Amino acid sequence: MAKPKVLIVYGTRPEAIKLAPVVKVFKADKRFKTVVASTGQHREMLSQVNEMFNIEPDYDIGLMHKKQPLNRIMSRSLKGLDKLLEIEGPDIMIVQGDTTTAMAAAIAGFNREVKIVHLEAGLRSGDMSSPFPEEANRKLITTIASLHLAPTISSRENLLKEGVDRKNIVVTGNTVIDALEEASSWDVTFSSKQVQEFTESTNRKVLVTTHRRENIHAVKNIGRAIARLADAFPDVSFIIPVHLNPLIHKNIIPELKGHDNVCVTRPLPYDEFTHLIKASDLIVTDSGGIQEEAPSLGKPVLLMRNTSERPEAIDAGAVRLVGANEETIFSEVSLLLTDKEEYDRMAHAINPYGDGRAAVRTLAAVSELAGIGARVEQFNPTI
Ligand code: UD1
Ligand code: UDP
Repeated sequence: MAKPKVLIVYGTRPEAIKLAPVVKVFKADKRFKTVVASTGQHREMLSQVNEMFNIEPDYDIGLMHKKQPLNRIMSRSLKGLDKLLEIEGPDIMIVQGDTTTAMAAAIAGFNREVKIVHLEAGLRSGDMSSPFPEEANRKLITTIASLHLAPTISSRENLLKEGVDRKNIVVTGNTVIDALEEASSWDVTFSSKQVQEFTESTNRKVLVTTHRRENIHAVKNIGRAIARLADAFPDVSFIIPVHLNPLIHKNIIPELKGHDNVCVTRPLPYDEFTHLIKASDLIVTDSGGIQEEAPSLGKPVLLMRNTSERPEAIDAGAVRLVGANEETIFSEVSLLLTDKEEYDRMAHAINPYGDGRAAVRTLAAVSELAGIGARVEQFNPTI
């Protein structure tokens, strides 16, 4: 019998991070023929991850443009992926999350009757405009996937409410915790002297990231809030690894000039970034992945969004929604920098998103779908 062929597709930094542990277990399992493809929706930020986890995609569509409207990403992904689907003829395709790459790949595979496996299925904010367009992307993938790998019990509940058959859902935990456990255990030398000095400083440290499309108009406000905080708290250091989106650069960097206690840097390799989270006292972000990583390292997160599809850490008190308004960011960060009790209430390590075995559960669930294996026990978080 021919080995089942699995095509793993990704295009952006977070997909690459969350799929790296999956690629590793599939490549090591000789029951499968595994092919890895990148749409190249991201370029430099994706290469950083591939290099770090030693993954060389078999195909790279290389679609990234400096300015990329969603329909351009979609059409170039569909065109490139269709060609490789024709060449490879996979039985199963694994896509991760909610990017345009993931949605386009799922549609391309579905149209060629490939079974779609959705990793990180069932996240819902309940608001189509936030995150945009990701909430729609993930719902579209749900409608055409054969196997739904939900990271948590509440994401499984979302899928059940939408009528997905229980037998097609497996709660795996999030593979980001597998990746985090691996990368944060490595010894790291920071490639930038400035970042190295930041981590060695005795000051308290605040790590900031922003990139969401729906926050682009608010990036100046975020920059202004950080600049005001840097003035108000000269004994606190702020660091911002700036996303390579030129709109973010253009809007945030001018706001942060002239502050000795603000370190503006390029995106960091994942292992350096995990060590930066560990070295920081507080995280201010609109990222999905960082919302999952920071709580497991005991770092409070102020989330610059109005909604979240990750309620677990919010319910546990480790993440707080603050929106992207200048005044609110200023006051919420100030509160945590001045009120130790409030800070301590948020700073406890919790692991609602995974136990480091999500990739193994993914492999087992996919082997069942392929008719060559069985599922293992599902992820059962303690909170
Ligand atoms: C994308 C995803 C988002 C995910 C984010 C992770 C969609 C619609 N959005 O958003 O869900 O949270 O990735 O970061 O799929 N750029 C570079 N080099 C890179 C990466 C990006 O120069 O390595 C610049 C390019 O100018 C590019 C721009 O960033 O046009 C925006 O990238 P894009 O993938 O369209 O959007 P993200 O905001 O990164
Ligand atoms: N990250 C990284 N280097 C950085 C900033 C973030 O490796 O300079 C990692 C981070 O640890 C997380 C992922 O990138 O795993 C999150 O990516 P992003 O915030 O771009 O996307 P999202 O998770 O919001 O989709």
